[in-house]
Amino acid sequence: MSRLESFIRRMSAQRDLLNEAARRIAEIDGPVVELGLGNGRTFDHLRTLFPQRRILVFDRKMSAFAASRPAPEDFVEGEIRERATAFAGIGAALVHCDIATGYAEADDATIAWLADVVAPLLRPGGFAVSGMPLEHDELEALALPPGVAEGRYFFYRRR
Ligand SMILES: C[S@@+](CC[C@H](N)C(=O)[O-])C[C@H]1O[C@@H](n2cnc3c(N)ncnc32)[C@H](O)[C@@H]1O
Repeated sequence: MSRLESFIRRMSAQRDLLNEAARRIAEIDGPVVELGLGNGRTFDHLRTLFPQRRILVFDRKMSAFAASRPAPEDFVEGEIRERATAFAGIGAALVHCDIATGYAEADDATIAWLADVVAPLLRPGGFAVSGMPLEHDELEALALPPGVAEGRYFFYRRR
């Protein structure tokens, strides 16, 4: 599969899972957390899906398209491992993680700590949508929506 084809499939998996999570959290209170602002594309999608919720966004630097930037009070700059850990217990209804690099060694190092950051951000019954697998006793892996291939994106619910 070409890199373009793979990218398109990853983007549509991301969109389909965020839309599915939006349906599932409709009855659940709590903020949304975006780990990895990047260009701001998924942040823009999240704020369309959740106009009434606070969306707290983390990245080591601000590099988003000007029209896709969170308010300064909702952006936390720095290393996610340190900065997001300080928000444990925030009771998020949804955490979206999009911090993979595509380089196996770097991504394996991230996978080793990411679940321990994500699980404490979520309220019980909250959801995580992630580009990387999250192995944690508190996170139950969920079936993917039709059209999202196994292993392309990941979906969890906090027990
Ligand atoms: C793939 S981009 C995110 C794309 C974004 N979701 C979008 O739709 O535009 C990944 C982002 O995560 C950030 N990032 C990756 N690892 C990080 C870490 N450990 N701490 C802080 N930021 C990190 C990078 O700076 C980058 O901006």
